[in-house]
Amino acid sequence: MDFALTQEHELIREMAYKVGQNEILPGLAERDREHRSDSEMLEKMAAAGVLGMSIPAKYGGADTDYISLGIVCEELERADTTARVVMSVHSGLHSLTLLQWGTEEQKQRWLPALAKGDRWGGFGLTEPNAGSDAANITTTARKDGDSYVINGAKTWISLADYAHQFLVITRLADTKAKAPYAAFIVDRSTPGFSSRPLKGKLGVRAGNTGELMFDNMRIPADCMLGEEGDGFKVAMSALDHGRYTVAAGGVGIITACLDACVKYANERTVGGEAIGKKQLVQQMIAQMVQGRDIGRLLYYQVGWMKNKGLRHTRECSMAKWTICKSAFDAANNAVEIHGAYGFSDEFPVERYFRNSRGAMIYEGTHEIHTLMQAEYELGYRSDKPIARVLPTYPFS
Ligand code: CAA
Repeated sequence: MDFALTQEHELIREMAYKVGQNEILPGLAERDREHRSDSEMLEKMAAAGVLGMSIPAKYGGADTDYISLGIVCEELERADTTARVVMSVHSGLHSLTLLQWGTEEQKQRWLPALAKGDRWGGFGLTEPNAGSDAANITTTARKDGDSYVINGAKTWISLADYAHQFLVITRLADTKAKAPYAAFIVDRSTPGFSSRPLKGKLGVRAGNTGELMFDNMRIPADCMLGEEGDGFKVAMSALDHGRYTVAAGGVGIITACLDACVKYANERTVGGEAIGKKQLVQQMIAQMVQGRDIGRLLYYQVGWMKNKGLRHTRECSMAKWTICKSAFDAANNAVEIHGAYGFSDEFPVERYFRNSRGAMIYEGTHEIHTLMQAEYELGYRSDKPIARVLPTYPFS
């Protein structure tokens, strides 16, 4: 067993830290206050090369391992959750799933532009009446000649108004199959496609979230990922990648809380003494350190399993479940340490508090991960190896 990160990992961490602090953070407080997203952040991320993380060089990617993707998510979310959300949907849910499930021709068709950041990818699973019970989706795909006609709607879709293409999970019409699902890569220029933004979010206010509507949208059959009947597995695979990025990003929120709290606790005095000397403040700082260090071990393990091509659904759920709770607790304590200032957007911790709450809902609620962990332990949930895995690292 080797716990050491490589020099390349350390360089990638430094690069991502600089992108976060120098490119993403400036102007964020205003954008967040005004609920304003823009494409500039995506363009900056593309220019920095992070949108091609963990994609093999032969598809135009950065050729880095999967742990590197986690490190980038951690450092970007240390600056801003909305940047990590871009990584989650573009790199995790969309590009890695394409890498896992695409035919060679599909990978050659789509991955180079995605890896370069010329095109941005999104993911459509959730519907107004199907969130945790993903198997209950009603968006239908009806086969018609050599294409499928898709009707329905998706909601809570990150990058709904910006992504050029989406991985959309549908229910097949006219089938009695046990798993009646199919997954498609859908181009937003397709007639019948439309999107609109969602307003009034508690957090991730500088990020774009919206709805997708499909009205008799005709998609060529060669845009299907996997075969008819594979759609649910494609969706669950996507979540193995998306949850990994959310988990890694959660460590970044904890680190950001520590950055803010260590500074504040050393500067702010009470009774002539820095509040950092107070044991109850120390207890909260210690809990943040605990969350950060345990969180890193959990997500590094998942990244390592991805490198080895091992199934990691259980471990990824554990990382996402544990880290998102630790991040929310850290942000709550960060507000506490800052006192009344923590209740104001003059300091960043109120944003961490709002943003960390969302991660306990999306990509599997806290309750779904609690149930999954219990079901694995009780023997109700299978953890058997899956046939279709990501390419192992180093990529051949
Ligand atoms: N990879 C590949 N295949 C998988 C898999 C995986 N990770 N997980 C399950 N499968 C396969 C299983 O092997 C099984 O196949 P067989 O029948 O051939 O054995 C099949 O898929 C069905 O699996 P399950 O029996 O485990 O399915 P389930 O119905 O019990 O799943 C659930 C229940 C785990 C709760 C699932 O519905 C779930 O994860 N729900 C939460 C959905 C979710 O996280 N939504 C978030 C939306 S995305 C989002 O939030 C992003 C955003 O925009 C911010």
